[in-house]
Amino acid sequence: MRRRTRKLLVQLMLFGGVLCLVLFLNAPSSTPPTLAWTRIRYRPRPDPPPPTSRGACPGLADANKLGKPALVVARVHADGDAGWLKTLEAQYHLCVYTADAPAEDPGHDYLQTPANRGHEAMAYLTFLIDNYAQIPAAGAVFVHGSRWAWHNDAPDYDNAALLAALNVSAALHPSGYHNLRCDWSAGTCPPSTPPQRSLETSLQAVLQPWGARAVSDKALPDALATLFGGGGVDGSLQVLLGRSDTLRAQCCAQFVVSRDRVWQHSREEYIALRSWLLTAAPRDDRISGRILSYLWHILFLRPGTEGEAAGSGGIHLQALNRAACPRADECYCRLYGRCNLANCVSPGACYGQYRVPKDYRLPDDWAASHVE
Ligand SMILES: *[C@@H]1O[C@H](CO)[C@@H](O)[C@H](O)[C@H]1NC(C)=O
Repeated sequence: MRRRTRKLLVQLMLFGGVLCLVLFLNAPSSTPPTLAWTRIRYRPRPDPPPPTSRGACPGLADANKLGKPALVVARVHADGDAGWLKTLEAQYHLCVYTADAPAEDPGHDYLQTPANRGHEAMAYLTFLIDNYAQIPAAGAVFVHGSRWAWHNDAPDYDNAALLAALNVSAALHPSGYHNLRCDWSAGTCPPSTPPQRSLETSLQAVLQPWGARAVSDKALPDALATLFGGGGVDGSLQVLLGRSDTLRAQCCAQFVVSRDRVWQHSREEYIALRSWLLTAAPRDDRISGRILSYLWHILFLRPGTEGEAAGSGGIHLQALNRAACPRADECYCRLYGRCNLANCVSPGACYGQYRVPKDYRLPDDWAASHVE
């Protein structure tokens, strides 16, 4: 064989080998998976000492008598003045957590989390753990501490206006959980989002290690397997997302949930989840926080209770994904009363309602120039 021919053959074989590997790694699994993601089975070992926090929200029992939902706010000092929440007091019972509050806070102005880790998740879990028995019958809304944020689903990004317009009972009907975002950009709802365990996501994570997005997408499946796995998982159920499966979710971790949905998990599960965040989660908050931001709907949505997966002991990924990404136009109408929108150009966007600002951030003077 001539040398050039041999070289060509070797190159062809190499190319064929790589092609097979890529095809193998991305091959769709034959059946849509049923996942064991119904219960947090992670148990920290050894048991860590219970963290200290000041998490019991004063007066929450009274909220129940008034039929008010709780508004759980996860803030840090950098979020600035919390005065914008005042106008919402008539509608909601406020439970405001400051993650970086000083340990000694004689004024007891704000509720406190055991540590400033995992972004908003630490405050949300501390609320659930320390107020488990008092969750209002009207539900609870979970939000970040700054009034203006790039991900707030309004033309001017104002959470005060969104929360004033939010129809909590409509949002909770029928599934008992709803993300506060309707627009699909920035989450994993768009069909173009690659599977979290695909080569594409792995490559992006390697090529953009500074971009928390791809790195946390890649870390998500293992984290979910750790949290939902453990002893007692029925062998027919999967804990690890398949290589060709995409977990779809709205982004940014602001949502509303009913008491029943909170109570479908035990207090111990929320404690275990918080222990994971405190001791075992990736140290980079942008990553652990983002992983948790893709967990809430798995905890609280139970797709299939109206049929599909009911009683099967597992969660069907397809049903979960469908429930996680409602159409934007229906969402705007149900949650915020913005109905009959004209320019809904795709299932995930209505023109004029929301746009991702440049570089996923608002100009520094946004708040100053928008307060009335
Ligand atoms: C909220 O939505 C429900 C329908 O689900 C409706 O009956 C109710 O009037 C709405 N509340 C407000 C304040 O618009």
